[in-house]
Amino acid sequence: MNPTRRAVLGIAAAAAIGVMAGTAQAQAYPTRPVVMIVPFAAGGPTDVIARIVGEHMSRTLGQQVIIENVAGAGGTTGITRGAQAAADGYTIMMGHMGTHGAAPALYPKLRYDPTTDFEPIGLAAGTPILIVAKKDFPANNLAEFATYVKANAAKLNEAHAGVGSVSHTTITMLNAQLGVKPAQVAYRGTGPALNDLVSGQVDFMCDQIVNLVEQVKAGTIKAYAIATPVRSPALPDLPTTTEAGMPDYQVSAWNAVFAPKATPKEIVAKLSDALDKALSDEGTRKRLLDLGGVIPEGRERTGAYLGEFVKAEVARWTPILKASGAVAN
Ligand code: MLT
Repeated sequence: MNPTRRAVLGIAAAAAIGVMAGTAQAQAYPTRPVVMIVPFAAGGPTDVIARIVGEHMSRTLGQQVIIENVAGAGGTTGITRGAQAAADGYTIMMGHMGTHGAAPALYPKLRYDPTTDFEPIGLAAGTPILIVAKKDFPANNLAEFATYVKANAAKLNEAHAGVGSVSHTTITMLNAQLGVKPAQVAYRGTGPALNDLVSGQVDFMCDQIVNLVEQVKAGTIKAYAIATPVRSPALPDLPTTTEAGMPDYQVSAWNAVFAPKATPKEIVAKLSDALDKALSDEGTRKRLLDLGGVIPEGRERTGAYLGEFVKAEVARWTPILKASGAVAN
């Protein structure tokens, strides 16, 4: 055999061995714990949902799913880290409407593209938005809230979890509808923001329901409305924004699991299967439903659906947020 042909065959054999090793690794996956990055502080809705589904995914995968909170820049710090992690299935992320829908419009220097830099695993939960205030806020319903905020905007503080987060985009929409610009206090997640709302250090915020149900039931904060067409079974006495007189304020968020781009197909399939099993498990479903979460069903749980959904969300949010004038540095 001539030396050139021998060299070519050698390269081909090495490539085939590499593919076989990769396939064997994917088949054995996971052989150690999987890190799920939550791009906000502990105790917020993203963290709560990640811990609930992650716990059941651990059982299916036979390895622990460890939550790592990497907060900052409205969730984009943690997602940037996740996007740049090794594409081996051992680092995945809980992204959401902000990190994968709103961020491109608000961060001119965003270091990931939500539509191309990830392997979508599946939607984890839908999360209706509530308008809430500290418990002694001087308004007893949404109409009074709107009147009071319009008259006193200059002396009020509203909380959110950083530019581009769900709480930021949804309060931006509320401000636009009310025609106000109260001072904003940015937190590393709405877990810590909620603590300050309970202690009365900030006046109001918009947040995902899963973070709020227990505090609303305990009366430690006031909830004025849920921004969905129908009431939530988790808080059946809370009116919708339509019932309460602000029918144009309609918004819901979502959370979803992503892996870095080029994670092997077999591993993506195992992760999607583990998420699907978590969302089919009665105990997991009850925990999410009790907190007001909306559970994705059927095709909504697939990576293919999530990939298309993210494209639609980026297209939906970009004009709204550009028009709002909000921007991050
Ligand atoms: C958000 O506002 O984007 C989230 O609610 C933040 C969080 O999960 O803490």
